[in-house]
Amino acid sequence: MKTLILYSSHDGQTKKIADFLSRYIDGEVYVDALMENYTIESFDLVIVGASIRYGHFNKALYRFVESNRYQLEQKSAVFFGVNLTARKEGKDNPESNTYVRKFLQRTEWKPKLAAVFAGALFYPRYRWIDRVMIQIIMKITGGETDPKKEIEYTNWDKVKKFANQINEMGV
Ligand SMILES: Cc1cc2nc3c(=O)[nH]c(=O)nc-3n(C[C@H](O)[C@H](O)[C@H](O)COP(=O)(O)O)c2cc1C
Repeated sequence: MKTLILYSSHDGQTKKIADFLSRYIDGEVYVDALMENYTIESFDLVIVGASIRYGHFNKALYRFVESNRYQLEQKSAVFFGVNLTARKEGKDNPESNTYVRKFLQRTEWKPKLAAVFAGALFYPRYRWIDRVMIQIIMKITGGETDPKKEIEYTNWDKVKKFANQINEMGV
């Protein structure tokens, strides 16, 4: 059993989730950055994780899914999305999280399993324009606005449960 976890991450949180997940997945597991022309042929299972920036996943994700659609369906591949909206209860599953729901509708890819995880807020690491934009969004949505704060909202138990679900698929 050979699994590949591909992550599309800008600030590292999706990579961190991918690394964490890899420790709980049965068999031989490889973790790598997603590239749109990645060759997935030699893997039994592919897990794709990607984060949201300004309402969108990275374009490379769409291209990757488009050019590997057939193989992804054949391999019963799995998807997880990462964003800050998912820190709120009721917006933390693939049906209720707008970004993941729209992504799956748009690509018409039907992953065998899908999940949404809350990401992290790293104000001090952002460029000032990003910091200000995120502060505005957080103010509107009733979240943290202190530019000195770094907060990880990821629920690691939920990630662990996702790993168990993947193992139980019995690929
Ligand atoms: C510039 C910027 C824009 C973001 N835009 C959104 C957004 O539109 N919606 C959302 O829910 N989260 C948004 N986020 C939150 C990220 O999805 C979250 O920080 C996530 O952990 C980033 O994952 P990464 O470190 O793997 O890139 C944004 C974060 C940054 C820094």
